[in-house]
Amino acid sequence: MERTSIRLGGVELASSVMNASGARSAERGEILELCAAHRGAIVFKSCNRAGLDTPENLKNRGVEYFQSIAGELTARNKKIIGSVVGASEEEFVDVARMLDRARVNIVELNLADDYVTKSVAPFASFERLKSILGRVRGETGCVLAVKVPPRMPFEPRAIADLFKSMRIAIAVCANDLPKDLVIDIARAKVEGPPRTLSQAHAFFKESENLLGVVAVGGINSGRDAYIAHLTGAKAVQVGSALMKEGAGALGRIDRELDSILAEHDHKSVSEIVGTVRFSG
Ligand SMILES: Cc1cc2nc3c(=O)[nH]c(=O)nc-3n(C[C@H](O)[C@H](O)[C@H](O)COP(=O)(O)O)c2cc1C
Repeated sequence: MERTSIRLGGVELASSVMNASGARSAERGEILELCAAHRGAIVFKSCNRAGLDTPENLKNRGVEYFQSIAGELTARNKKIIGSVVGASEEEFVDVARMLDRARVNIVELNLADDYVTKSVAPFASFERLKSILGRVRGETGCVLAVKVPPRMPFEPRAIADLFKSMRIAIAVCANDLPKDLVIDIARAKVEGPPRTLSQAHAFFKESENLLGVVAVGGINSGRDAYIAHLTGAKAVQVGSALMKEGAGALGRIDRELDSILAEHDHKSVSEIVGTVRFSG
Protein backbone atom coordinates (compact mmCIF):
# COMPACT_ATOMS: atom_id res chain seq x y z
CA MET A 1 0.00 0.00 0.00
CA GLU A 2 2.59 2.53 -1.09
CA ARG A 3 -0.26 4.80 -2.05
CA THR A 4 -0.80 5.75 1.60
CA SER A 5 2.84 6.45 2.43
CA ILE A 6 3.70 10.10 3.00
CA ARG A 7 6.39 12.52 4.16
CA LEU A 8 5.40 14.39 7.31
CA GLY A 9 7.70 17.09 8.70
CA GLY A 10 10.50 15.59 6.63
CA VAL A 11 9.95 12.10 8.09
CA GLU A 12 9.00 9.30 5.71
CA LEU A 13 6.00 7.38 7.03
CA ALA A 14 4.89 4.07 5.55
CA SER A 15 1.27 5.12 6.05
CA SER A 16 -0.61 8.35 6.64
CA VAL A 17 -2.72 6.50 9.24
CA MET A 18 -1.51 6.18 12.82
CA ASN A 19 -2.91 5.79 16.31
CA ALA A 20 -3.80 8.88 18.33
CA SER A 21 -1.73 9.41 21.46
CA GLY A 22 -3.14 7.42 24.36
CA ALA A 23 -5.24 5.00 22.38
CA ARG A 24 -3.70 1.60 23.22
CA SER A 25 -0.30 3.21 23.48
CA ALA A 26 0.40 3.48 27.22
CA GLU A 27 1.83 0.00 27.90
CA ARG A 28 4.72 -1.81 26.21
CA GLY A 29 2.45 -4.73 25.29
CA GLU A 30 -0.11 -2.45 23.65
CA ILE A 31 2.58 -0.60 21.72
CA LEU A 32 4.14 -3.84 20.44
CA GLU A 33 0.69 -5.02 19.40
CA LEU A 34 0.10 -1.82 17.41
CA CYS A 35 3.53 -2.17 15.80
CA ALA A 36 2.80 -5.75 14.78
CA ALA A 37 -0.63 -4.86 13.40
CA HIS A 38 0.29 -1.80 11.32
CA ARG A 39 3.28 -0.45 9.45
CA GLY A 40 2.57 3.25 10.13
CA ALA A 41 4.16 5.36 12.82
CA ILE A 42 3.44 4.66 16.47
CA VAL A 43 2.40 7.54 18.72
CA PHE A 44 3.19 7.02 22.38
CA LYS A 45 0.81 7.87 25.20
CA SER A 46 1.60 11.36 26.49
CA CYS A 47 4.16 11.09 29.27
CA ASN A 48 5.60 13.38 31.90
CA ARG A 49 8.80 13.11 33.91
CA ALA A 50 7.85 10.77 36.76
CA GLY A 51 4.53 9.30 35.59
CA LEU A 52 0.98 10.18 36.62
CA ASP A 53 -1.81 8.25 38.36
CA THR A 54 -4.30 11.04 37.84
CA PRO A 55 -6.01 12.41 35.86
CA GLU A 56 -7.12 9.04 34.53
CA ASN A 57 -6.78 10.13 30.88
CA LEU A 58 -3.10 10.97 31.37
CA LYS A 59 -2.12 7.97 33.50
CA ASN A 60 1.38 7.01 32.39
CA ARG A 61 4.57 5.35 33.62
CA GLY A 62 6.89 8.28 33.04
CA VAL A 63 9.31 9.21 30.28
CA GLU A 64 12.02 6.67 31.14
CA TYR A 65 9.56 3.86 30.44
CA PHE A 66 8.94 5.29 26.95
CA GLN A 67 12.65 5.93 26.39
CA SER A 68 13.33 2.23 26.79
CA ILE A 69 10.51 1.25 24.39
CA ALA A 70 11.84 3.80 21.88
CA GLY A 71 15.22 2.07 22.09
CA GLU A 72 13.61 -1.26 21.20
CA LEU A 73 11.59 0.14 18.31
CA THR A 74 14.22 2.32 16.66
CA ALA A 75 16.38 -0.80 16.46
CA ARG A 76 13.57 -2.24 14.31
CA ASN A 77 13.33 0.93 12.21
CA LYS A 78 9.86 1.81 13.45
CA LYS A 79 8.91 5.47 13.17
CA ILE A 80 8.04 6.85 16.59
CA ILE A 81 6.20 9.92 17.77
CA GLY A 82 6.73 10.62 21.47
CA SER A 83 4.11 12.75 23.23
CA VAL A 84 4.85 15.12 26.11
CA VAL A 85 2.73 16.46 28.96
CA GLY A 86 3.90 18.41 31.94
CA ALA A 87 2.82 20.67 34.76
CA SER A 88 5.52 23.27 34.10
CA GLU A 89 7.59 24.67 31.29
CA GLU A 90 10.66 22.96 32.76
CA GLU A 91 8.92 19.59 32.74
CA PHE A 92 7.95 20.00 29.08
CA VAL A 93 11.54 20.85 28.20
CA ASP A 94 13.00 17.93 30.21
CA VAL A 95 10.62 15.32 28.86
CA ALA A 96 10.96 16.52 25.27
CA ARG A 97 14.75 16.42 25.63
CA MET A 98 14.65 12.89 27.04
CA LEU A 99 12.47 11.62 24.19
CA ASP A 100 14.74 13.38 21.69
CA ARG A 101 17.75 11.64 23.25
CA ALA A 102 15.94 8.31 22.92
CA ARG A 103 15.89 9.06 19.15
CA VAL A 104 12.16 9.24 18.59
CA ASN A 105 11.50 10.73 15.12
CA ILE A 106 8.99 13.34 16.19
CA VAL A 107 8.16 14.86 19.58
CA GLU A 108 4.51 15.90 19.91
CA LEU A 109 3.81 18.48 22.62
CA ASN A 110 0.37 17.84 24.01
CA LEU A 111 -0.92 21.37 24.57
CA ALA A 112 -4.50 20.20 24.04
CA ASP A 113 -5.25 18.65 27.42
CA ASP A 114 -7.07 20.43 30.27
CA TYR A 115 -4.30 19.30 32.63
CA VAL A 116 -1.83 21.39 30.63
CA THR A 117 -4.22 24.33 30.29
CA LYS A 118 -4.68 24.40 34.08
CA SER A 119 -0.98 24.11 34.94
CA VAL A 120 1.20 25.54 32.16
CA ALA A 121 -1.54 27.64 30.53
CA PRO A 122 0.34 27.77 27.22
CA PHE A 123 -2.39 29.83 25.57
CA ALA A 124 -2.77 32.37 28.38
CA SER A 125 -0.82 34.81 26.23
CA PHE A 126 1.09 34.76 22.98
CA GLU A 127 4.31 35.43 24.89
CA ARG A 128 3.66 32.42 27.11
CA LEU A 129 3.22 30.16 24.09
CA LYS A 130 6.32 31.58 22.47
CA SER A 131 8.33 31.03 25.62
CA ILE A 132 7.45 27.36 26.06
CA LEU A 133 7.89 26.51 22.38
CA GLY A 134 11.13 28.47 22.18
CA ARG A 135 12.61 26.66 25.16
CA VAL A 136 11.66 23.21 23.87
CA ARG A 137 12.97 24.12 20.41
CA GLY A 138 16.24 25.36 21.87
CA GLU A 139 16.82 22.12 23.79
CA THR A 140 15.85 19.55 21.15
CA GLY A 141 17.04 18.64 17.68
CA CYS A 142 14.14 16.42 16.60
CA VAL A 143 11.15 17.25 14.45
CA LEU A 144 8.56 18.97 16.66
CA ALA A 145 4.78 18.72 16.52
CA VAL A 146 2.24 20.58 18.64
CA LYS A 147 -1.20 19.19 19.43
CA VAL A 148 -3.39 22.28 19.72
CA PRO A 149 -6.63 22.56 21.70
CA PRO A 150 -9.84 22.68 19.63
CA ARG A 151 -10.45 26.27 20.73
CA MET A 152 -7.73 28.88 21.13
CA PRO A 153 -7.75 32.59 21.92
CA PHE A 154 -5.57 33.28 18.83
CA GLU A 155 -6.23 33.05 15.13
CA PRO A 156 -4.86 29.95 13.37
CA ARG A 157 -2.85 32.33 11.15
CA ALA A 158 -0.92 33.73 14.13
CA ILE A 159 -0.25 30.26 15.56
CA ALA A 160 0.79 28.87 12.17
CA ASP A 161 3.20 31.80 11.66
CA LEU A 162 4.66 31.24 15.13
CA PHE A 163 5.15 27.51 14.44
CA LYS A 164 6.88 28.26 11.15
CA SER A 165 9.18 30.82 12.74
CA MET A 166 10.12 28.37 15.50
CA ARG A 167 10.70 25.43 13.19
CA ILE A 168 7.72 23.53 14.57
CA ALA A 169 7.07 21.32 11.56
CA ILE A 170 3.72 19.78 12.44
CA ALA A 171 0.38 20.93 13.87
CA VAL A 172 -1.92 18.22 15.23
CA CYS A 173 -5.38 19.70 14.80
CA ALA A 174 -9.01 18.82 15.43
CA ASN A 175 -10.81 17.14 12.54
CA ASP A 176 -13.98 18.94 13.64
CA LEU A 177 -15.84 18.87 10.33
CA PRO A 178 -19.51 19.89 10.32
CA LYS A 179 -21.82 16.92 10.86
CA ASP A 180 -23.95 17.91 7.87
CA LEU A 181 -21.04 18.20 5.40
CA VAL A 182 -22.09 17.16 1.91
CA ILE A 183 -19.10 16.09 -0.15
CA ASP A 184 -18.61 14.41 -3.50
CA ILE A 185 -15.31 12.69 -2.89
CA ALA A 186 -14.80 11.70 -6.54
CA ARG A 187 -14.69 15.41 -7.46
CA ALA A 188 -13.32 16.56 -4.07
CA LYS A 189 -16.23 19.00 -4.00
CA VAL A 190 -18.07 20.25 -0.94
CA GLU A 191 -21.57 21.64 -1.38
CA GLY A 192 -21.90 25.34 -0.57
CA PRO A 193 -19.70 28.43 -0.59
CA PRO A 194 -15.96 28.41 0.12
CA ARG A 195 -15.36 28.25 3.86
CA THR A 196 -13.13 26.77 6.52
CA LEU A 197 -14.31 23.26 7.29
CA SER A 198 -12.32 22.29 10.37
CA GLN A 199 -9.40 23.33 12.51
CA ALA A 200 -7.16 21.08 10.40
CA HIS A 201 -8.42 22.85 7.26
CA ALA A 202 -7.81 26.28 8.86
CA PHE A 203 -4.20 25.38 9.67
CA PHE A 204 -3.66 23.94 6.22
CA LYS A 205 -4.91 27.15 4.59
CA GLU A 206 -2.72 29.34 6.80
CA SER A 207 0.44 27.28 6.57
CA GLU A 208 1.37 27.81 2.89
CA ASN A 209 2.50 24.21 2.83
CA LEU A 210 5.25 24.93 5.34
CA LEU A 211 3.49 23.03 8.13
CA GLY A 212 2.43 19.41 8.09
CA VAL A 213 -1.12 19.15 9.38
CA VAL A 214 -2.29 16.03 11.21
CA ALA A 215 -6.04 15.61 11.72
CA VAL A 216 -7.35 13.92 14.85
CA GLY A 217 -10.96 13.26 15.84
CA GLY A 218 -13.67 11.10 14.34
CA ILE A 219 -11.48 9.10 11.96
CA ASN A 220 -13.32 5.78 11.86
CA SER A 221 -13.00 4.73 8.22
CA GLY A 222 -10.92 5.15 5.08
CA ARG A 223 -13.54 7.61 3.83
CA ASP A 224 -13.08 9.76 6.95
CA ALA A 225 -9.32 9.66 6.39
CA TYR A 226 -9.77 10.55 2.70
CA ILE A 227 -11.91 13.60 3.56
CA ALA A 228 -9.41 14.72 6.22
CA HIS A 229 -6.67 14.53 3.57
CA LEU A 230 -8.78 16.54 1.11
CA THR A 231 -9.11 19.25 3.76
CA GLY A 232 -5.33 19.48 4.16
CA ALA A 233 -4.19 16.75 6.52
CA LYS A 234 -0.99 14.92 5.62
CA ALA A 235 -1.72 12.29 8.24
CA VAL A 236 -4.61 11.17 10.43
CA GLN A 237 -4.71 9.81 13.97
CA VAL A 238 -7.22 7.25 15.17
CA GLY A 239 -8.42 7.17 18.78
CA SER A 240 -11.90 5.89 19.59
CA ALA A 241 -12.12 3.42 16.67
CA LEU A 242 -8.92 1.82 17.90
CA MET A 243 -10.24 1.58 21.45
CA LYS A 244 -13.44 -0.03 20.21
CA GLU A 245 -12.10 -2.33 17.54
CA GLY A 246 -8.56 -3.11 18.63
CA ALA A 247 -5.24 -2.79 16.82
CA GLY A 248 -6.76 -4.08 13.56
CA ALA A 249 -8.57 -0.74 13.11
CA LEU A 250 -5.40 0.94 11.77
CA GLY A 251 -4.83 -1.64 9.02
CA ARG A 252 -8.52 -1.59 8.10
CA ILE A 253 -8.60 2.22 7.76
CA ASP A 254 -5.33 2.15 5.80
CA ARG A 255 -6.70 -0.51 3.39
CA GLU A 256 -9.98 1.38 2.94
CA LEU A 257 -8.08 4.61 2.22
CA ASP A 258 -5.87 2.76 -0.26
CA SER A 259 -8.94 1.38 -2.09
CA ILE A 260 -10.60 4.80 -2.39
CA LEU A 261 -7.34 6.28 -3.73
CA ALA A 262 -7.07 3.46 -6.28
CA GLU A 263 -10.71 3.85 -7.25
CA HIS A 264 -10.05 7.52 -8.09
CA ASP A 265 -6.77 6.82 -9.91
CA HIS A 266 -4.49 8.39 -7.34
CA LYS A 267 -1.03 6.92 -7.08
CA SER A 268 -0.27 8.66 -3.80
CA VAL A 269 -2.25 10.14 -0.95
CA SER A 270 -0.10 13.26 -1.29
CA GLU A 271 -1.92 14.03 -4.58
CA ILE A 272 -5.16 14.77 -2.72
CA VAL A 273 -3.89 16.72 0.31
CA GLY A 274 -5.73 20.04 0.53
CA THR A 275 -7.45 19.71 -2.85
CA VAL A 276 -11.01 20.21 -1.59
CA ARG A 277 -13.11 22.65 -3.65
CA PHE A 278 -16.57 24.15 -3.21
CA SER A 279 -19.63 24.07 -5.44
CA GLY A 280 -21.13 27.40 -4.36
C1 LIG B 1 -8.20 6.22 26.04
C2 LIG B 1 -7.70 7.51 25.49
C3 LIG B 1 -6.54 8.06 26.00
C4 LIG B 1 -6.05 9.26 25.48
N1 LIG B 1 -4.86 9.75 25.94
C5 LIG B 1 -4.30 10.83 25.34
C6 LIG B 1 -3.00 11.26 25.66
O1 LIG B 1 -2.31 10.69 26.51
N2 LIG B 1 -2.49 12.32 24.99
C7 LIG B 1 -3.18 12.98 24.01
O2 LIG B 1 -2.66 13.92 23.40
N3 LIG B 1 -4.45 12.60 23.69
C8 LIG B 1 -5.00 11.54 24.30
N4 LIG B 1 -6.25 11.11 23.93
C9 LIG B 1 -6.98 11.87 22.88
C10 LIG B 1 -6.73 11.23 21.52
O3 LIG B 1 -5.36 11.31 21.17
C11 LIG B 1 -7.58 11.91 20.44
O4 LIG B 1 -7.21 13.27 20.36
C12 LIG B 1 -9.09 11.84 20.74
O5 LIG B 1 -9.45 10.55 21.19
C13 LIG B 1 -9.93 12.20 19.50
O6 LIG B 1 -9.81 11.22 18.50
P1 LIG B 1 -11.01 10.13 18.23
O7 LIG B 1 -12.22 10.91 17.85
O8 LIG B 1 -10.48 9.26 17.12
O9 LIG B 1 -11.20 9.39 19.50
C14 LIG B 1 -6.75 9.93 24.46
C15 LIG B 1 -7.95 9.37 23.96
C16 LIG B 1 -8.41 8.17 24.45
C17 LIG B 1 -9.68 7.59 23.87
